[in-house]
Amino acid sequence: MTGNRFVCRHSALNWAEFQTIQKWLHRTVEEQGFSDATIDLADLRQAYPNGAVPLIVLLDQYRQTQGVDFDIVPPSDPLCLRTMTEQNYLGYLAAGKSHAAVSGRPNALHQFTGDSQLNDLIDQQIHQVLERAVYAEGVLQSFEWALNEVAGNVLVHAGVDVGWLQVVVHPNSRHMAIAVADGGLGIPANIRSAYKEFSGKRDEDAIAFALQEGITSRPDFGQGKGLTGTLEIAKSNLGGRIAIHSQKGKVEWLDGRLRIAGDFPPFTGTFVDIQLDTSQPIAIEKALWGKGPAFPFNENFYGQDTRVGEMKFLLSEEASSFGNRPTAVKIRNKVENLLVSAPNDVLVIDFQNIDLIASSFADELFGKLVIALGFVGFLSRIRIVNINKFCRGIIDDVVQSRIVQSRSNQNE
Ligand SMILES: Nc1ncnc2c1ncn2[C@@H]1O[C@H](COP(=O)(O)OP(=O)(O)OP(=O)(O)O)[C@@H](O)[C@H]1O
Ligand SMILES: [Mg+2]
Repeated sequence: MTGNRFVCRHSALNWAEFQTIQKWLHRTVEEQGFSDATIDLADLRQAYPNGAVPLIVLLDQYRQTQGVDFDIVPPSDPLCLRTMTEQNYLGYLAAGKSHAAVSGRPNALHQFTGDSQLNDLIDQQIHQVLERAVYAEGVLQSFEWALNEVAGNVLVHAGVDVGWLQVVVHPNSRHMAIAVADGGLGIPANIRSAYKEFSGKRDEDAIAFALQEGITSRPDFGQGKGLTGTLEIAKSNLGGRIAIHSQKGKVEWLDGRLRIAGDFPPFTGTFVDIQLDTSQPIAIEKALWGKGPAFPFNENFYGQDTRVGEMKFLLSEEASSFGNRPTAVKIRNKVENLLVSAPNDVLVIDFQNIDLIASSFADELFGKLVIALGFVGFLSRIRIVNINKFCRGIIDDVVQSRIVQSRSNQNE
């Protein structure tokens, strides 16, 4: 490797490859004094959040603090190029360059500054996650709780304006990945400034300490519950994992044990990487010391201004058109998730402002729901209100066909 051009020789951009680039950048910028650098990703086949996200944070730091100008050579593999563009990785890696625009896809990487932007982003993530798959009990509540805590930590502890967040659900492999990163002070530095006994201790030990209940560097503000609760959530999900990288330390829950290790070069900031198996239940009350979340997962969206025991689902707010199956699949996922997350509530589906729905849409949503819940289950959990005669006729028709079809399948 010569001059100020780095050629990525590995096919995957993961944490190890990120560290190779980081070492090279340290030599090139800090030791050799280059103020511009090219990172050639032409050979790349795959980019994982645990490689792309920290690299984005690092390049952002070099740009902000030292004015370094980066050129990124995008992957030549069309699939990798497409994913890296859609995930916003290229847009952020090549910030300010014209060849990669930042996309608004919900499952892409997003930057946030300040609490109101973070709240909007978390709302968006909840909707994206609700639509993507159906989850085992406790997974959605755990997801919402942990995302709020870990991303909220950036706002109060990182000492920088900007954080990064990405949530990806893979329905086929039943996998959810949550990545939160910042280029701020880091956990060890905050722990050392609040707990003097940590001044000579290793960074990884300071992170492990921060993961204990009640440990906070800001007792005026926090209670030291966020990280420990997030770790407990990952632990109680079979197959769940969490890795926390900060400065020269790494603490990881993997394969049923906590690994505490040093990491070099140091990561200037904090990177939290959470992986959950969406098909494995999470006993969230137990994980959070017997106290479940004070509100069910969906309260903000579906439980406001309703009678006790009712959730309200305004169909017109869920999509802009009610004419195709893919849209109906997303809405049915949401409905099934809401029913699981509040098992004693009735879901009121309000047809206000909806004049017409297509039969394919109605079948995908209501026909399949009746089969999934059973006729009695459907009647006891779902109430449809403000529906016009036309939509009612469409739903009656498709539900009848579905029932007949499922009977004839059973008889075969
Ligand atoms: N992104 C971060 N950047 C820097 N330090 C962090 C970050 N996240 C956590 N920390 C450090 O780890 C400590 C423990 O975090 P944790 O979320 O468990 O508790 P808290 O945020 O202090 O309190 P609570 O979560 O109850 O509001 C924090 O007090 C802070 O010192
Ligand atoms: Mg916290």
